[in-house]
Amino acid sequence: MVTITCVIENTAKPSSPFWGEHGISFWIESGDGCVLFDTGQTPAILLHNLMMLDKAPDDIDAIILSHAHNDHTGGLPAILSLRPGLPLYANPDIGRPRYSRRGDRYHYIGLPMPLDALGRLVDLRLSAEPVEVLPGVWTTGEIRERPELEGRGANLVVPDGEGWRPDPYQDDLSLVFETQEGLVLLCGCCHAGLLNTLAHVERHFGRQPVVVIGGTHLVAAEGTALQHVIDVLRSAYQPMRLYPSHCTGQRAFVALAHAFGEQVHPCPAGTVLSFD
Ligand SMILES: [Fe+2]
Ligand SMILES: [Fe+2]
Repeated sequence: MVTITCVIENTAKPSSPFWGEHGISFWIESGDGCVLFDTGQTPAILLHNLMMLDKAPDDIDAIILSHAHNDHTGGLPAILSLRPGLPLYANPDIGRPRYSRRGDRYHYIGLPMPLDALGRLVDLRLSAEPVEVLPGVWTTGEIRERPELEGRGANLVVPDGEGWRPDPYQDDLSLVFETQEGLVLLCGCCHAGLLNTLAHVERHFGRQPVVVIGGTHLVAAEGTALQHVIDVLRSAYQPMRLYPSHCTGQRAFVALAHAFGEQVHPCPAGTVLSFD
């Protein structure tokens, strides 16, 4: 059995002690160990929510980062100060500096420290290929084929010589769980695009996911683009349970709920999902 607990999300379960913030973190527990997938944005919120969930940083066997953005990596220093030397899995491109453009200003939104400094604090395990972190718990590896809509932000850029260019989101990865119910896909921000990620999983793992949890980055999708995603999910990926959160955006969540009814669920901080 694997249990996936949402530690941080934009929202928290009503009347719960958890704090919400724009970000994602999941605690993954199987009989073989514990993995923290992303860390939210704020160290104090990560530690608070872990404490409220009765989860101890001492029990973490490895950290996986979905990508560099600070709403997924900002909480990292809280764990590193308590658990130096932990294995940390990510794409090799995660160290690229990333920025958000606001008007003529550029705000740094990458890792909380340079990659070489991070490498002195953790056991860095960078790979562009799928990696089995615990038995039956895999990273997707790099999602290179992206014929469908990507989860892009118009103002998210990386330095390019003297100028800037759109973030290629090469570092984006998700997790795949092999369960008796089928494959479960857990996304951080899904910048590679939900349909691209689903197709990648099917290619590499030989089956389609039956459950999708986490950020799907449909926040900027609207009109025909959003309808296309829904149409493909309906025609090619049924039955599927969805727990879309974070950068899915309210409009896309409502559209998915309208299209798929009781197959769609929210996933605020404090949500616990178990799979045999
Ligand atoms: Fe992101
Ligand atoms: Fe995000």
